[in-house]
Formats: sequence, C-alpha cells, structure tokens
Amino acid sequence: MKKVIIINGPNLNMLGKREQDIYGKTTLKDIEKECQAEAKKLKLRLDFFQSNDEAEIIDVIHNSKNKYNSIIINAAAYTHTSIAIMDALLAVQLPVVEVHLSNIYKREEFRHTSYISKVAVGTICGFGTVSYKLALQAVSAL
Ligand code: DQA
Repeated sequence: MKKVIIINGPNLNMLGKREQDIYGKTTLKDIEKECQAEAKKLKLRLDFFQSNDEAEIIDVIHNSKNKYNSIIINAAAYTHTSIAIMDALLAVQLPVVEVHLSNIYKREEFRHTSYISKVAVGTICGFGTVSYKLALQAVSAL
C-alpha cells in the first residue's frame, strides 16, 4: 500500500472562515475527511498535516523520507517565498504533487512564482477542494 502525506501550509487552518469568495466554505477538517475517503478508494494510506510554521513544515518533509512514497503539498503563501521548503523537498527526493485551491496563475502577479513547481512532478490548481482529490489520483497513478 502506497503511503502519502498531504502537507498544508499557513492560514489553511482558517479555511471556511477565510476569504470565502476565493477559498469557499469548506473547512480543512472537511477536506481531510474527503481526502481520507478518496484515499480509501485508491487504496492509499494517508496522513494529513497542517502548520503555520515554516520550520515545522520542513521537519515534517525531512521525516517523510523513510515514511512515505510521495508528498502532496499546498504550501500556501510559502509557495511563493520559501526556497527552504523547496530545498527540503529536493533533499528527500520523493515525488511531489503541488496543490492549490485557487488558480494562482489567474491571481496577483506575486502568486505566479512557485518554488514548489520547480521540484514537483506536477501542479493541480484552481479546482477548489477537488484539487486535493485530483492530487491523490495523480500520486496513485505515479
Ligand atoms: C493557496 C494560494 C496561495 O497563493 C495562498 O497564499 C494560499 C492558498 C491556494 O490553495 O489557493 O494561502 O495555496
């Protein structure tokens, strides 16, 4: 059975309350439930993690090395700024699928740069919570 971790970055714990016009009404807990159901269908073992702390995210990536077959990450705002998270992903050499709820390429210019894209197998963005399920299908097919 393939083991996968979904890592969520800063402010995603505020989903459901935060900028509903962009991110919708679904909470991160709801997304986790939907992802667990999808993972079951795909016969994946899934862990789900969120942190607002860059260092904590980096530690979880480092610890993924011998625990998971692939990483799905919504690094949120760190997507556009964090060379450190990109380097951590490079260090563990696991296949990475990048996810975003919103289409970052349709939004402000500063969101068009993604350090995660530089090291990901592929990126899924713009489909709201469905982006996460598509990412699980992608890692299952890898
Ligand atoms: C996001 C897009 C990022 O630009 C933003 O900073 C987020 C959420 C998304 O899922 O659409 O916090 O990663």
